[in-house]
Amino acid sequence: MNQRDIDRLLRVHWLADVEHHAMLSSTNDRAVELAKQPGVKMPLLIIADRQTAGRGRGGNRWWTGEGSLAFSFLFEDAPLPLEEYERATPVATSVAPLTGLAAGLAVAEVTRWITDDFIPHREVGLHWPNDVFADGRKVAGVLVEVLSNRKIVVGIGMNLNNSASLAPEELQPSIATVFDLTQKIIHPTTIIEAIANRLESLIYLAWYAPKKLTTLVDAACLQKNHELRLQWGSAIYTGLCRGIDETGAILLETNEGLRAFPSGVILKS
Ligand code: BTN
Repeated sequence: MNQRDIDRLLRVHWLADVEHHAMLSSTNDRAVELAKQPGVKMPLLIIADRQTAGRGRGGNRWWTGEGSLAFSFLFEDAPLPLEEYERATPVATSVAPLTGLAAGLAVAEVTRWITDDFIPHREVGLHWPNDVFADGRKVAGVLVEVLSNRKIVVGIGMNLNNSASLAPEELQPSIATVFDLTQKIIHPTTIIEAIANRLESLIYLAWYAPKKLTTLVDAACLQKNHELRLQWGSAIYTGLCRGIDETGAILLETNEGLRAFPSGVILKS
């Protein structure tokens, strides 16, 4: 990534600043560190060409292979003044609960646009809460960290110009990359720019029209009508997925009837 790319990203309406690093331990760690400092311009985008200690959800490690994308947004949990939106008063008091869904959807939509250009009709979409899947394999993941000072970090890892064949052996069967799907090298800046623009719109929806956001998430959810196992606290529930409700919770048709889970971990079946 060169200065022209950074200048291009600085022109993204939502972003106040952009940082690029050849190597970082983790772009989320860098965002968390900057969130404690005064005078940081936000929304801030932090990009790393390589991560030495990328973090995934549930304390997992995240593999950042060469050619994959690793970046984080740091922003305030406060509505921006929106002349272009009709509604003057936000519906939500915080977007923290819906940020993961918004980010997962933004990445899923951008992944669908790019893969559709080359190979239409691929099954590309969201696995609740915010994993992006293509043809049954994970292409991208999102790690949201809600900080105590009303700041939010959204970390995105995406398998773009890398190949699953170069991933650690245990990951190979479960991951997909855009390159493997399309055989095309896509300019990282194009993807980051598109995700930032889409995330801005979806975060706005989270403030001003959250039900519109969860309707879009429901439409992108690939798990619908699939049998899922969900861990919620120490309990495990099994049931047919009936999509995502208007609060962003996943709906499972369990033995006890239809239940909405606002959080939880989907276990591999
Ligand atoms: C997951 O699916 O478990 C979430 C993976 C999130 C990985 C990204 S890579 C950029 C950012 N920095 C990190 O350390 N993690 C996120």
